[in-house]
Amino acid sequence: MLIREAEAGDWPRIWPVWHRIVSAGDTYSWDPGTPEEAARALWMGSPGRVYVAEGADGTLLGSACLTPNYGGPAAHVANAGFMVDPDRAGHGVGRALAEHVLAEAKAQGFSAMVFNAVVETNPAVRLWTSLGFSILGTVPDAFDHPRDGRVGLHIMHKAL
Ligand SMILES: CC(C)(COP(=O)(O)OP(=O)(O)OC[C@H]1O[C@@H](n2cnc3c(N)ncnc32)[C@H](O)[C@@H]1OP(=O)(O)O)[C@@H](O)C(=O)NCCC(=O)NCCS
Repeated sequence: MLIREAEAGDWPRIWPVWHRIVSAGDTYSWDPGTPEEAARALWMGSPGRVYVAEGADGTLLGSACLTPNYGGPAAHVANAGFMVDPDRAGHGVGRALAEHVLAEAKAQGFSAMVFNAVVETNPAVRLWTSLGFSILGTVPDAFDHPRDGRVGLHIMHKAL
């Protein structure tokens, strides 16, 4: 697996994965009907950097974005998003992407990383806690999950 910074030309391969994950409506607090151009702005827009994980044959396995979570005097706190092709999930791509992005964030001078809205029933919570994130708090009943009903959103934090 190769993890590298994305180029604009990677978007057409990121978009089908992005669309499949967001339209499922069970992990991200974005409109499941987000059209492609708006999705591109959300994922590839500045400020921030985007990464892709590719298989040995160049297949796109997943993508991550890294951006300041706040502005001005708080811009040293990072935010990141992760998406792995659902057909490739469960094979270590997400963990490898997260370890890469955490190292990148530290190298870029970020002092911490915050996730603003992790759906409390998302199995990813286990991944984030195993990487050293803690749950600062949970906004109760914030997310209408298609199967779990109304569930909380965790705010998660890790010092870098
Ligand atoms: C979350 C996500 C990025 C994880 O990527 P992945 O490649 O499937 O994860 P990995 O194979 O690296 O698994 C990492 C750990 O996560 C946990 N995990 C991930 N998905 C899981 C699932 N569906 N069920 C149970 N555990 C899961 C496992 O505990 C695993 O632990 P291990 O490394 O000790 O085996 C990916 O499933 C995804 O894109 N999900 C949809 C979007 C999303 O939820 N993004 C995160 C928003 S907070």
